[in-house]
Amino acid sequence: MGKVAVAFAAAAVVAACSVAAVMVRRRVKSRRRWRTVVEILKEFEEGCDTPVGRLRQVVDAMAVEMHAGLASQGGSKLKMLLTYVHDLPNGTEKGTYYALHLGGTYFRILRVHLGGERSYLDVQDVERHPIPSHLMNSTSEVLFNFLAFSLERFTQKEGNESNSQGVKRELAFTFSFPVKHTSISSGVLIKWTKGFEISEMVGKDIAECLQGALNRRGLDIHVAALVNDTVGALSLGYYHDPDTVVAVVFGTGSNACYLERTDAIIKCQGLLTTSGSMVVNMEWGNFWSSHLPRTAYDMDLDAESSNPNDMGFEKMIAGLYLGDIVRRVILRMSQESVIFGPSSSVFSEPYVLRTNSVSAMHEDDTPELQEVARILKDLGVSSDVPLKVRKLVVKICDVVTRRAGRLAAAGIAGILKKVGRDGGGGGGITSGRSRGENQMQKRTVVAVEGGLYMNYTMFREYMEEALVEILGEEVSQYVVVKAMEDGSSIGSALLVASLQS
Ligand code: BGC
Repeated sequence: MGKVAVAFAAAAVVAACSVAAVMVRRRVKSRRRWRTVVEILKEFEEGCDTPVGRLRQVVDAMAVEMHAGLASQGGSKLKMLLTYVHDLPNGTEKGTYYALHLGGTYFRILRVHLGGERSYLDVQDVERHPIPSHLMNSTSEVLFNFLAFSLERFTQKEGNESNSQGVKRELAFTFSFPVKHTSISSGVLIKWTKGFEISEMVGKDIAECLQGALNRRGLDIHVAALVNDTVGALSLGYYHDPDTVVAVVFGTGSNACYLERTDAIIKCQGLLTTSGSMVVNMEWGNFWSSHLPRTAYDMDLDAESSNPNDMGFEKMIAGLYLGDIVRRVILRMSQESVIFGPSSSVFSEPYVLRTNSVSAMHEDDTPELQEVARILKDLGVSSDVPLKVRKLVVKICDVVTRRAGRLAAAGIAGILKKVGRDGGGGGGITSGRSRGENQMQKRTVVAVEGGLYMNYTMFREYMEEALVEILGEEVSQYVVVKAMEDGSSIGSALLVASLQS
């Protein structure tokens, strides 16, 4: 071999070696980065762990807090608000009634026609629109003028057939925020939740604001009841099945209400109702217990929210927040490693990842997780995200949703415990009866409503599975969870109907 050839061969060997070295270094680096990401996931998963023992502690804490909230004003983070609803619709109602529902993401208007028998419930003309985002931090005047205008359009469309005698229309206002009621048809806003921020409205009578706006437009509509969405769902549940004693909403926000004996509402002594009971709006979104598995991501979410130190339970289980918890975990991973390529800064934007995208990614059953790839691309992640990273995203969605579903189940079991329907001896925590005393387990229906529950199968499955785990196979046979589509609005209209009969 000539000298030139030797030199050439040597250079080729050196080049090959350095390419190999670069590749090895890259591989080692990428393995190290991947290990970091896996460690972040592991730590997050451990932080979100909800073994049944911990869930039972949450159940007990919920029941104890309910008791404290009923004992005195401000006795607990659970407000346990009076609703002045003591008789629920029973199927004998007749006539045509309206509901306007201001939720967290949508507002709905509908009309129901009732024929005096349970089977004759005709829900007509359901209108559902997203709430324009500028309304969420406008003024009360702008908000209520908008609602009145929407109602006007709705009634104009129906022409004269539904209101042929020209009688005043009776309306339920389903208002999905905490209200301190003074009667079934009046009450003041305690605070905003779910990102709404119209501060001058706090302390104002909500029904009066709507009635004023309707009068200003010359509409012959009477606001006959102001109803929390959970109470609407309970009303529809009860209308169909009188064993319904609890209602829960899992939507943009979350909350529960239930039927309580008036003598157990100690903070309002002497409260008399014909039925001996009253629906209590728990406002469980504000529940807190040291047993809740809280991570650094939850703390950051809370600190950066519009209502820090408030609605801690809601921030772990409700639709507005699940997407943002997932986003925060992805953001941390992408800061520690370049797994999402150079455009990973898209995850810096709060609430850019919505819970409906989380549900679509979580439930992606395509072999290559194409739906996950599509959603990441739509968010602005420019590089092709490898399959193993897509799997990682699905896993994060799973951890967040599993924790939410299981904590939601613990919340429900806490209410069942308080009312003595958890199989633990019959009398609830105030009865003084001990566990194991022989009491017939009563059939109990829990009405559930809200987009998170209706549209996110995995959330629903985790919740239902955990409820059986907590209550045990035998007791859970007596607990029926029933979905109430549009229950909040329909049920509120039924409630107004029951007030007239
Ligand atoms: C509100 C509740 C409401 C729940 C579900 C919460 O943010 O405080 O009043 O029932 O969301 O919509």
